[in-house]
Amino acid sequence: MRHIMVLNAKGGCGKSTLATNIASYFADEGYGVALADYDPQQSSLDWLERRPDSRPKIAAVAGFKDGLKHAPRQVDFVVIDAPARSHGKELLDLVRHAETIVVPVLPSTIDMQAADRFIKELKAVGKVERKQAKIGVVANRVREYTLIYEELDEYLTAMKVPYLASLREAQNYVRAYTRGLGIFELPEYLAWPDWEQWEPLTKWLRSVRSQP
Ligand SMILES: Nc1ncnc2c1ncn2[C@@H]1O[C@H](COP(=O)(O)OP(=O)(O)OP(=O)(O)O)[C@@H](O)[C@H]1O
Ligand SMILES: [Mg+2]
Repeated sequence: MRHIMVLNAKGGCGKSTLATNIASYFADEGYGVALADYDPQQSSLDWLERRPDSRPKIAAVAGFKDGLKHAPRQVDFVVIDAPARSHGKELLDLVRHAETIVVPVLPSTIDMQAADRFIKELKAVGKVERKQAKIGVVANRVREYTLIYEELDEYLTAMKVPYLASLREAQNYVRAYTRGLGIFELPEYLAWPDWEQWEPLTKWLRSVRSQP
């Protein structure tokens, strides 16, 4: 069973958006998937409640209450949506649950500075240091040809962590979330640019490079 966690101490960078999309991607591919929400805000669980019965099932796990105790044992993937402001002991506890960690970062000076500190903290966690957990970063809500995106792109490229994808700012994410869907479940004519941007991220998640 694989555990993929979407993690960043900064609020609002897209953790729940990425977690719900990663979960629905693997569910659509025919895998057994559970989505564990460690955030008492319950964005991922709210999304699951909106999910139509006609779509591949994803098991709900209220991680913020009792961790993975009630996670189904037979699934292939547990996707974990982490809460903001996870530092210190809380961060250690979270990282204990994952072998793969995806860190979304927004194109903003505040977010980049926060990410800098957070990724340093994350890299210093023993499990990550020993490569028992692999981390990768994703630029999220990017607007091409803006100065701040150029800055973010350079910053993430220079970082000694796999830079997995740049996801554009798009209403598709909002539209999909509201309907309990992932962007892979929207019509192709609407979502193909997003599908293309996700390709390197899903490829990494499926490869041994994202596993210890
Ligand atoms: N690529 C995107 N394009 C457009 N909107 C986006 C994108 N990614 C995220 N959003 C929107 O940004 C907001 C914050 O995203 P999300 O809730 O996923 O962040 P979060 O990191 O989980 O936040 P929190 O720290 O509060 O848990 C949401 O309204 C979401 O719909
Ligand atoms: Mg969230």
